[in-house]
Amino acid sequence: MDWSKGVLTGDSVQSFSKTLGQVRSIFQDQAAASRLPAELELYRVQLFAPVAEGTEGGLFWGSTTIHPGKVGDEYYMTKGHFHRLRNRGEYYATVHGEGALLLMDEQGATRYETMLPGSMHYIPGNTAHRVANTGSVPLVFAACWPSDAGHDYETIEREGFSARMLERNGKPVLVPRG
Ligand code: F6R
Ligand code: MN
Repeated sequence: MDWSKGVLTGDSVQSFSKTLGQVRSIFQDQAAASRLPAELELYRVQLFAPVAEGTEGGLFWGSTTIHPGKVGDEYYMTKGHFHRLRNRGEYYATVHGEGALLLMDEQGATRYETMLPGSMHYIPGNTAHRVANTGSVPLVFAACWPSDAGHDYETIEREGFSARMLERNGKPVLVPRG
């Protein structure tokens, strides 16, 4: 990984992108979401997976780039997930830009950590995580997680986070669900 850009290179690096059409339901303002094109790319991920998914004891490395922008008052953000093996933790490290890492425990309490270039974030096990780009430039962060962690997206699709990162008077504010 080139730490000045957060870009991974190498034959075995996989890349995928997430469009608004794939994650539309995560946003609060569905009217605003429906005015934007399904093909709009919100973020992309590069993945280095040196062992097979599910392997105990291995580690994966990823780099995520979230574009700047909002759907209504809500910043572009990742889908968010618990790990399928709930007790698996993860590290995030910010390379570029500004953001907010939302962390929700299994009791539904959501807090956040501010992401700035060089900031390191420990995501404990049993904690759902989602990142919002609260700045005006791309937010790039690296991630490292156990290869047997897996991803549970369904719980968040169904229940969401208990708070959202919204712009209020030009600033990001964590707004609890009403
Ligand atoms: C891996 C991890 C990150 C995210 C990536 C995209 O466990 O947390 O690599 O997968 O930032 O976010 P999601 O997966 O929530 O769409
Ligand atoms: Mn994760």
